[in-house]
Amino acid sequence: ETGPYTRCQTMNRLRSAMRKGKRARMEMGETAKPKGKRSKTAFCFCPSENGFIVLPGKTVDAASACTYHTFPDSADVLLRSQLLRWYDKEKRELPWRTLAMTEADLNIRTYAVWVSEIMLQQTQVATVKDYYLRWMKRWPTVKALAAATLEEVNQMWAGLGYYSRGKRLHEGAQKVVTELKGQMPQTVDSLLKQLPGVGRYTAAAIGSIALGQVTGAVDGNVIRVLCRLRAIGADSTSPAVTEALWGLANMLVDPERPGDFNQAMMELGARVCTPKGPLCSQCPVQPLRPSWCDFKFLLTSSSPSGNSGTCHLCPSEPWDDELGVQNFPRKPAKKPPRVEQTLTCVVVRPGEEGEEEYLLKQRPHKGLLAGLWEFPSLLLEAENSEVKQKRALCAELNGILGTCLTESVFQYVGEVVHIFSHIHQTYVVYSMILKDGGTETQTEDTQWLTRSSLQEAAVSTGVKKVGMLSTHCV
Ligand code: ADE
Repeated sequence: ETGPYTRCQTMNRLRSAMRKGKRARMEMGETAKPKGKRSKTAFCFCPSENGFIVLPGKTVDAASACTYHTFPDSADVLLRSQLLRWYDKEKRELPWRTLAMTEADLNIRTYAVWVSEIMLQQTQVATVKDYYLRWMKRWPTVKALAAATLEEVNQMWAGLGYYSRGKRLHEGAQKVVTELKGQMPQTVDSLLKQLPGVGRYTAAAIGSIALGQVTGAVDGNVIRVLCRLRAIGADSTSPAVTEALWGLANMLVDPERPGDFNQAMMELGARVCTPKGPLCSQCPVQPLRPSWCDFKFLLTSSSPSGNSGTCHLCPSEPWDDELGVQNFPRKPAKKPPRVEQTLTCVVVRPGEEGEEEYLLKQRPHKGLLAGLWEFPSLLLEAENSEVKQKRALCAELNGILGTCLTESVFQYVGEVVHIFSHIHQTYVVYSMILKDGGTETQTEDTQWLTRSSLQEAAVSTGVKKVGMLSTHCV
């Protein structure tokens, strides 16, 4: 009996059947197999019926995932059409989208989408827009980027964070020019294999958006949308959930418009299915998701269509009723950031044209903030006194400048807190005015910059903050 029921009617039938014990089990089609080998008849949410229906002949193996974590056969068509209709009306005009639509040259289009996807990793759309426009104006082709220096790339990237991304783009461009005759890879597989910094998601995004390849693309936004649509509440970073999400995305993607489909999923996650305060009433695919009330029923171990307890996509921990769909996705607790203290000194000299200049030192070419410039700095091992801090800075600067400065020339300025990637950094800032001696210093890894050129330099946001603090004191 699979007649059309409203979702509530169906759920009530299921609940009342559960209460009725054996008879109910018969009604639900559970077969009397030896213990441990039982299979259950599957139920699924059917959009055309607006309710859960029994799937005749479909059973759920006790060790596999519950059926409600996948979409019923017809749902993909409905989801595509609803989502794309919404996207066509609501999508933001973004420079990389315009380029992907209007640029006829496949090589340029692939390059343009590659740049956008790398910039968008870990960075908000609003921040990326300006950087992207400046980048594409300066290096409109992969060949142009390959001809730039890493210093220029770092300058352009300054303030965007996660600096290894810019370095990888540059390395990738040089590889394309020297090893691939200037031709960007043209398949998802070759993008993944050939380009440094391009992983599974980025290759799929470039492949679908720039090249029209039919593949799903699962980023953080898509994880959230799919976990909520299909009640996937196990750790979203686990291999089982990752594979299930890629499976769903590949099944759902519109073969006619894969790039638009993937961007629509991302857009939905960014603007409607948000981590906090989701706008469910504006969601174009809401009819494809069980109500929160149904979720809770589905996720109980006694649910007829589930096998919680063995299912590796079901939540393993209780949910918070007040949070509703925001219970999904589940992520493992974040590691607390590493706490670091750095001693740094803003050294000023009178410049040649009366404009003051600041001493910058280049960081090593490998590791954190590789190749970027900073005020001379030392990692602080432990809390220590101002006297000790001045002594340490004095020794460091005499080493850099070849001077015999004394500790008394250093002036304490204050502290700057800067949180980046996984580090909670506190800069303990000193300043020092260099009157004579050492002002001639100019080595490979040091330079003197005026305040205005400091704004354009390859320095991190933390260094800019230290510079701002010292302005008021130097
Ligand atoms: N995040 C990653 N790729 C994106 C895209 N193409 N549009 C909007 N946000 C994105």
